[in-house]
Amino acid sequence: MEPISRRRALQLGGLGLAGVLAGGLGLAWQGSRGARFDAAVGAELSEPSVLASSGGELALALTAAEGDLPVAGGRARVLGFNGGLPGPTLRVRPGDRIRVTLRNRLSEPTNLHLHGLHVSPAGNGDNPFLRIEPGQDFDYEYRLPDTHPSGVYWYHPHHHHLVADQIFGGLYGAIIVDDIDPVPVTRERVLVISDLTLDNAGRIAPASIMDRMVGREGNLVLVNGQLRPTMTAAPGTLERWRIVNACVSRYLRLRMDGQQLRLLGLDSGRFTEPRPVQEFVLAGGNRADLLVSTMAGSGQLLALPVDRGAMGMMGRGGRGDPSSPGGDATGTVLATVEVAGAAASPPAPVPPQPSPRDLRRETVAATKTFTFGVGMGMAMGAGGMRFTIDGREYEPDRTDHTVRVGTVEEWTLVNDSPMEHSLHLHVWPMQLLRTGGREVTEIAWQDVVNIPSRNRVTVRVAFDDYPGRTVYHCHILDHEDLGMMGVIEAR
Ligand code: C2O
Ligand code: CU
Ligand code: CU
Repeated sequence: MEPISRRRALQLGGLGLAGVLAGGLGLAWQGSRGARFDAAVGAELSEPSVLASSGGELALALTAAEGDLPVAGGRARVLGFNGGLPGPTLRVRPGDRIRVTLRNRLSEPTNLHLHGLHVSPAGNGDNPFLRIEPGQDFDYEYRLPDTHPSGVYWYHPHHHHLVADQIFGGLYGAIIVDDIDPVPVTRERVLVISDLTLDNAGRIAPASIMDRMVGREGNLVLVNGQLRPTMTAAPGTLERWRIVNACVSRYLRLRMDGQQLRLLGLDSGRFTEPRPVQEFVLAGGNRADLLVSTMAGSGQLLALPVDRGAMGMMGRGGRGDPSSPGGDATGTVLATVEVAGAAASPPAPVPPQPSPRDLRRETVAATKTFTFGVGMGMAMGAGGMRFTIDGREYEPDRTDHTVRVGTVEEWTLVNDSPMEHSLHLHVWPMQLLRTGGREVTEIAWQDVVNIPSRNRVTVRVAFDDYPGRTVYHCHILDHEDLGMMGVIEAR
């Protein structure tokens, strides 16, 4: 692989204006089926570097900057944390303190959000209202409660209007909260899945107004910044994959035939017993904790198409319309798995996991309804369309909802539009009770919940602690940037 990637680096480094005008070499970046891309496909999966806590603390610096970084086997002009895409993986334990110095070396404001972590939104904690200017450094500090759920989380910027662009550009990384009682596995892998589109000069392609309305989907789908990497294993082993859907808008319907898959958990939720699955969907922002029992043979990890509906404008229809994202695609190969060699002996069985809290048994102090809508309006930058929750666009100084600390609420999420939206609530995870008319029988805790188009979802939330203000929003991040976000205050 080495000579190829060096050659590609030279080609792209020297592209410049002449390359764009000549158009030739630039084609290397036009889609995932070009010959030059194929040369980069198949390299062994590499993983981001790991920064682990010790003695109850993790202190680190995250520098957000643009650079010529390794992407898809070559180099491209993208954004990264600490020079990588994804940024380093943070490994912590319940009860830990995390101190992050965020260094903004971008040309625009940014900030930092720890997605899914149950930590305070106040002050220099997980505060989405902070604005870190270019050139500025800022010290964040987070304290995980001793009872923090173990699992897979992630970090990314959260400056309104720029969230989708900065994540699409490459700013994200995984966070793992380790188990108190380890699950015995042969090996663990972190798989951060993201998508991007590069232009002829190897730069991030800007999103059009239509891209933003539909929710942009990049034409390259990457695993740890690589294009279709390979994972090798011996048969009979048990692997644990920590999968993050870091795509700005794309939903991932993940499937892998020939291997035995069991979901240990989703987001911060953990099933009492690992659940056998053939395929499962991760909306943008969702994470999976997946157990893979390896079986001899080779297979592919696929992202199958997910129809998120369409705008229903300009003569286009709704769901199933080929112009809608994922509507006409045949799916994408994310990675190849090669299982061969002498059979290994699997580790001890997964110990039973503690029963999660079930809010269906608890008293509801208040009920609320959130209505997600897309309608005509005077808004700029969205083709005249407004992306709203309860008819309003995001306004940081307005508090849309107040909740009382120490209470449980039941929320009905209504989607009035012809396209899918999702609800992501910061700080407090949600227990899913009903979705699209179906009663959820298992105990499912998620922090991003898909709301099917023209449908509704019911969740319950326990506001046990952390007074303060934070946000909830659609995690199709182009919609969030267009205004589909609100402010909640717990007191
Ligand atoms: Cu993953 Cu408010 O964000
Ligand atoms: Cu979040
Ligand atoms: Cu949306």
